[in-house]
This record gives sequence, C-alpha cells and structure tokens, in this order.
Amino acid sequence: MRNFKTWAGHRAVVTGASSGIGAEYARQLATLGVNLVIAARRMDRLQALALELSSKHGVKVDCCQVDLVAPEGPRVLFDFATADSQQVTVLINNAGLAKYGSFLEFPYEDHFSTLAVNSVAPTEITYRFVKHMLAHRKQSYVTQVASIAAFQPVGNFAVYSGTKGYLMYFSESLAYELRGTSVKIMCLCPGGTYTEFFEHSGQKITSSGRKTMMSSEKVVRLGIQAMLAGKVIFVPGFLNQLACFLPRLIPRHLGQFFAAKAMGRAVEKAS
Ligand SMILES: NC(=O)c1ccc[n+]([C@@H]2O[C@H](COP(=O)([O-])OP(=O)(O)OC[C@H]3O[C@@H](n4cnc5c(N)ncnc54)[C@H](OP(=O)(O)O)[C@@H]3O)[C@@H](O)[C@H]2O)c1
Repeated sequence: MRNFKTWAGHRAVVTGASSGIGAEYARQLATLGVNLVIAARRMDRLQALALELSSKHGVKVDCCQVDLVAPEGPRVLFDFATADSQQVTVLINNAGLAKYGSFLEFPYEDHFSTLAVNSVAPTEITYRFVKHMLAHRKQSYVTQVASIAAFQPVGNFAVYSGTKGYLMYFSESLAYELRGTSVKIMCLCPGGTYTEFFEHSGQKITSSGRKTMMSSEKVVRLGIQAMLAGKVIFVPGFLNQLACFLPRLIPRHLGQFFAAKAMGRAVEKAS
C-alpha cells in the first residue's frame, strides 16, 4: 500500500462502520496504523470492532453512536471526533441506505431517511470537516461513498440513485473548488458489493447477480489506493466501469432501460 509508513498516527472518521464497506474501511485503515472514529447507530457492533482493531493493530478507536437522520447528527459526530483539539485527516462518508421498489409504495418517512443519510448528512459532515482540515493544514483526504447508480437513473431505486447522483456532482464540484489545497476529495462509486445492504434495502441477489458482485475487501482496497492517488471519481472493477461508461454512448432513455434490465437480472424484491 502506498504511503504505508506516513499513515501511522493519523486520525480517520468512518461513518456507517457497523457493517459492510464502512467496517472494512475501518479494518484496512487500522492495518495502516490510522487511529479511528467509527460511527453508526448500532453501538454493540462498533464496540466489538473497536476491540478487535485496537487489540490487533494497537490503534486508538473511538466509537460514536449517532443517528444521521437526526438534524444534530453531523454536528454531534464532528464535536466528538475533534474533542480535545484532536485533528482529523481522513473522512470516509460511507453511511447509506436504500429502499428497493416503486417510489409510491413506501411511507414518505423512508424516503426522508434516505435523503438525510445519503445526501444531507454527508454534505454537513463534509462542510464541518473540510473547514477543520483546511485550518490544521495537514494533507487530508475525504472519500464519499456513492454508487454506480450515480451515473444512471435507475427505476425502482428513484430516491437512492438521486441521492448518489447528488453526492457525485457535489464531490466533483468540491474537488474542483479545493484544487491546490491540502484537502483531496474523491467519490467512490461501487457496484454490487456483498454486504447487509441488500437485506436492509429489501433486495435478494439472484444467481446471475452473484457473478458480478465484488467483495467489500476489494472495493475498499482499490478505494484507498485511488484516494491516495488523488482520483476525483473512482469506480472499482472493470464490469462496473463498463456499466458507467456505456450509457454515455447511447440515448439517455435507452440507458435507463438497460440499467433497469441489468438491475432486474441481478436482484429481485425480497418477499
Ligand atoms: N453493497 C452494495 O452493493 C453497494 C453498492 C454501491 C454503493 N454502496 C454504498 O456503500 C455504503 C455502505 O453500504 P454497505 O453496502 O456497507 O451497506 P450496510 O452493510 O447496510 O451498511 C450501511 C451502514 O450505514 C449505517 N447507517 C444506516 N442508516 C444510518 C443512520 N440513520 N445513521 C447512522 N448510520 C446509518 C449503518 O449503521 P447502523 O445501522 O448501525 O446505523 C451501516 O453501518 C452506502 O452508502 C451504500 O449506498 C453499497
């Protein structure tokens, strides 16, 4: 891993670290010697991970129980992570959720939560931490975890693909504003990755979907390499890169048609 030695002693904040991609970010950053603030609602999961990582790698791991739907969530996380003048140099805005199905079948509160966790909270968290990073002037990195759904409107995933599209545009614009500063912003856009995400979003992976899934270990390993290399948008995996590139060559409505077909082959609605 590039810059292995230089990472010891840094402090990283990882949201959504109680499972899946976020827990894997915590694991891989800990192996680099990075101290951590891990955040989510399920404190028992965070505490178990903190114990595992601090005993294996000797890093300091602080657990922040926070609900990112709550308006005060991002401020609570920022105050916790920077208490006692501690400096944060890595932010992984990873927490996210989805509801798979038609827009009108869910209570509006579900869509509100998706908007809050996937778009509103990462915007405020980024605002607070980037100000903090610019003030302490150490080389710093922010990764926003979006999705390949950011590249293409996806039926039955209307709010989710909207929130991820927002996150990608926001990150790309901010990376431009921050060029030449000590803070690098990257948007990671994974495709299907084996995590609890499918269970939480009401999806079942089909046998053909399984063939295209990546492990969170690989997504995060490539994501950290891309972040250190200063990429602005990064899609891990050749098939995912193809899925993001091909729609640019065809009319938009056809892109949406093929995206819905591909999605329908990879997952079905859980009963
Ligand atoms: N898996 C995939 O196929 C895939 C593909 C593309 C992009 N992604 C993106 O990757 C990110 C991580 O997802 P994952 O696959 O690792 O799914 P996951 O295992 O379901 O993890 C989601 C994480 O978000 C946290 N979270 C959800 N609601 C929250 C809230 N209200 N407040 C605080 N934290 C909350 C969860 O923690 P608590 O429940 O403990 O709060 C959990 O740690 C998401 O942004 C997702 O959109 C996933």
